Amino acid sequence: MVNSSKPAADYDDPSFNYKKYWQERQYEHFSEELVLKKFFNLIPKKESLIDIGGGFGRLTPFYTPLFKKCVLVDPSKRLLKAAKKLTKKYPNLKTIKGAALKLPFKNNLFDVALMVRTVHHLASPDDAFKEANRVLKTNGYFILEFANKLHFKAIIRAVFTLNFYYFTDHTPVEKSEEIVFFNLHPTAIISLLRKNGFQIVKAVSVSNFRSTFLKKILPLKMLLFLENITQTIFPAYTSGPSVFILAQKT
Ligand SMILES: C[S@@+](CC[C@H](N)C(=O)[O-])C[C@H]1O[C@@H](n2cnc3c(N)ncnc32)[C@H](O)[C@@H]1O
Repeated sequence: MVNSSKPAADYDDPSFNYKKYWQERQYEHFSEELVLKKFFNLIPKKESLIDIGGGFGRLTPFYTPLFKKCVLVDPSKRLLKAAKKLTKKYPNLKTIKGAALKLPFKNNLFDVALMVRTVHHLASPDDAFKEANRVLKTNGYFILEFANKLHFKAIIRAVFTLNFYYFTDHTPVEKSEEIVFFNLHPTAIISLLRKNGFQIVKAVSVSNFRSTFLKKILPLKMLLFLENITQTIFPAYTSGPSVFILAQKT
């Protein structure tokens, strides 16, 4: 459980256009598709997938062709309404209102659970991992993305300010003045995953070139070429702003 006095992220707030947010982040979006492709190639059985906190369905065009049944769960009415529109195009997709801490499904149902850019909004990642484990079949896979406390810029900052405690301190870093939004320590996330019955299969550093300057001077194709290489060679937990973990229910 992490302490925050801030209110939960409200994706129903009409002043925030989450779809527009992604229109300006093609590099990050395609970087995520690159790592998901790598992870899906390692998963032998692709019957059913649950996308926890799936939002407006940004990743549905990518995963629906790979799975027989997909369910997108999200607490936001507004985002779910947008996601529901996609069910016409992808008949194997269902959308359901729900939250990560109490998924509206019985035990041992899904082959894969996906949670991208959602755990940073949760006050209790521990309970969310427990719930993901509950709905997964034995040997099912959990694909988790989290905002990384030990990203490159934060490491440089910590070194230059002689704040070496930063590296071992598992306390999440609050990223927003207004809402619950945490950068999380990789070691804390790994131990919570293990505690909740997962083994780590693979971890990858993602969006390694998330920089306004680099995005301005380099064409998208070049950035994605470099991203693809660095996803393989950069250390997973001490490079990029975003970490993707492929974990398996034991
Ligand atoms: C940054 S968006 C990510 C959406 C989607 N996964 C993506 O990557 O495009 C965060 C999402 O988490 C959802 N969310 C917030 N609190 C949640 C909770 N307690 N359980 C599940 N989802 C939650 C929001 O409604 C929103 O759709």
